[in-house]
Amino acid sequence: ANKSEKVKAKLVSVDSLEECGERLRQGGLVAFPTETVYGLGCNALDQDAIMKVFKAKERPLTDPLITHVTKHSDAYELWNAEESSIEGKALRQLCDKFWPGPFTLVAKAAPHVPQTLMANTGFVACRAPQHPISIALIDAAKVPIAAPSANKFGHVSPTRASHVWDDLHAEDVWIIDTTESDSEVCAVGVESSVVKMELSENSEKGTITLLRQGAVSASAIQGCLEEAGIADNFDVISRTKKAVDETVAEVAPGQNIRHYSPNIVSRIISQSCYTSNKDPTHEEVEVLSKTVLIDFGGKLSSWEKHAIAYRDLSKSENSAEATKSVFDILRWAEQVDDATQILFPEIPDGPSVDALTLALKDRLTRAASGVVISRIN
Ligand code: TXA
Ligand code: MG
Repeated sequence: ANKSEKVKAKLVSVDSLEECGERLRQGGLVAFPTETVYGLGCNALDQDAIMKVFKAKERPLTDPLITHVTKHSDAYELWNAEESSIEGKALRQLCDKFWPGPFTLVAKAAPHVPQTLMANTGFVACRAPQHPISIALIDAAKVPIAAPSANKFGHVSPTRASHVWDDLHAEDVWIIDTTESDSEVCAVGVESSVVKMELSENSEKGTITLLRQGAVSASAIQGCLEEAGIADNFDVISRTKKAVDETVAEVAPGQNIRHYSPNIVSRIISQSCYTSNKDPTHEEVEVLSKTVLIDFGGKLSSWEKHAIAYRDLSKSENSAEATKSVFDILRWAEQVDDATQILFPEIPDGPSVDALTLALKDRLTRAASGVVISRIN
C-alpha cells in the first residue's frame, strides 16, 4: 500500500487559529507551538477528546496532562483552593510571578475536573504559556486546553512542526505550522518546570515539590514565597535530582527514566573518561566511527575527527543555547546513516549550576535511560 494513504494529519497556518479554536471546542486535536515544546491540544473538559490525545500519543493513562490557560482565574477554577487560604495565596503568588511562562503548577483539583485528565490523582496541573500562538489559540477555543508534548510517548519531544508531523502524521491532528525561524518557535526548547503543591490536614507546613526541571528553579520558587512573606509556610524540595529513583515515578507520574529517547542506543560518557586526555585506542576509534557525538562546551571535541557525526549543543557551554536545540539535535542524531549509537558527555553537578543546565542534564540522562559508561565501547 502507498505510504501516503496513511496520512491523516494536516498542516495548517497561523491564519486559521479561529478554525483551530473551533476544532478544539468540538473535541478535535490541534498541535501548537509553545515557548517550551509543541503541545498536542484538546478541550481539557471533554473526556472523549482527552482519550483521543492518549490514543494518538500511545501514552499510558497513568500519565496526567497539563491544562493550558490564559486567564489565571481559569486555573483557580480548576483548583480547589479557597482564595483566602494559605494554599490559595501561594498559588496566586506563584502564578503572578511565573506566568505566562515555562512553569506548571499542580494542586488539588475541583470536583468537576475530568479524572482522565489528571490520571485519577485528584491533582490537576495548569500552565499559562507565553508563546503568542498558544495564547491566541486558547483564547480562540474559549476552553482550557489540555496538552502533553506532541510526540509519540517516550520519543524525543517536538520543537518544530516537522517533528510533530514525523510522529503524528497518521493521526487525526491539525498541526499549526509557523513562519517563524526555527530558533524562535520553541525558544526555551525544553518542557516547563513542574511543581506540586500539597497541604496535609495534620501538618502546619505545606510542601512544594519540583517534579520536573525546567527554566524555573527551586530557588526562584523559594524566592517568590519569601517576597510574599509566606516562605515559612512551605518546604520547597527538589525531587528531580534523583531522576533514577523509583519513588519519582510514583510521585511524578510520567517522569520515568526512559523518556525523550532517540530511536538508537544513547549513553552518557563519564567525566573521568573524557577528561583523561588519553588518545583513543584502535578499538575505540573503530567504535567512534559509528558513533554520533552530541557535545556540550567542547568536552568531547578531541574525538570529533573520529566520530561519524558531531554537533555541539553550545560551544560556549551556554545552557539556554543548548536547550533551544537539544531536541532537534537528538532527532537529527537518530537519523544519521550507519550510526549505531549516540554519546553525550556527563555534565558535572555543582551548587552554582543554573536551572537550564539542570534541565539539559535531566533530558540527556533520560535520553540515555540513565546509562553512564566510563570507556568508549
Ligand atoms: O512545557 C510543557 O509543559 C509542555 C507544553 C506543551 O506545555 N507540556 C508537557 O506535557 O511537557 P507532558 O505531558 O509531556 O508532561 C506533563 C507532565 C507529566 O508527565 C507529569 O510528570 C506532570 O506533567 N504532571 C501533570 N499532571 C500531574 C499531576 N496531576 N501530578 C503530578 N504530575 C503531573
Ligand atoms: Mg512529554
